Amino acid sequence: MKQLLHRSTRFLLAGVALLVLLISCATAPQAQTPSPTAQPAAVASPGGELSAYPAQLPPLPYEYGALAKAIDAETMKLHHDRHHASYVNNLNEALKPQSNLQNRSVEALLRDLNSLPEDIRTTVRNNGGGHLNHTIFWQLMSPNGGGQPTGEVAQAITQTFGSFDNFKKEFNEAGGDRFGSGWVWLVRNGQGQLQIVSTPNQDNPIMEGNFPIMGNDVWEHAYYLRYQNRRAEYLNNWWNVVNWQEVNRRFQLAAQQ
Ligand SMILES: [Fe+2]
Repeated sequence: MKQLLHRSTRFLLAGVALLVLLISCATAPQAQTPSPTAQPAAVASPGGELSAYPAQLPPLPYEYGALAKAIDAETMKLHHDRHHASYVNNLNEALKPQSNLQNRSVEALLRDLNSLPEDIRTTVRNNGGGHLNHTIFWQLMSPNGGGQPTGEVAQAITQTFGSFDNFKKEFNEAGGDRFGSGWVWLVRNGQGQLQIVSTPNQDNPIMEGNFPIMGNDVWEHAYYLRYQNRRAEYLNNWWNVVNWQEVNRRFQLAAQQ
């Protein structure tokens, strides 16, 4: 009898130990998977993300007439001093009463448009996008630009599109096919691949999770004085001013995403 009691006690103790072990496993802190802490790279410029409030018109990095191989001085003056300036002014007006949004960058606003009050959402989309797109655009052109691509992006273009000539052809077609106003872009997409995309109005590729490496403005205000309705001719000539050094910088930035 004593032996039976002793055996039951041992079983009971073993059961309690097992229970304690199970509970401790269930409540023990789990190994944490490190959360990604890398911030998205600044889309607009080497100086960081673009201030939305106050938004400021950046100076052109060259004279109005410096890109005459593709774009005339009068178009550049109107495009920068009037069109880009109005996106900047409209963005400031929209954000003036929104103190809780004023510390966000243009990129952050565009990546999360649904978090904005409905009555300013479209204004921020159009004018924040316009400010960001044009800030990138001025840097993507240079009086010393044009010719064949150089650096790492040249190799990536050939690998993805077969040849530089084929890339130009596909880029120009996408720009020509954009109905109405918009942009044509070379982006690094979410799968890490180069891709040609077109966006309507002033939408920027970051709104679809793509990083803009290079882009051309196909709004009529970008070419109409010199080319009238001949957008295809403008698209062809634009390659004469592409700043491949800047395209390469942006290509490397995109790879950090
Ligand atoms: Fe424009």
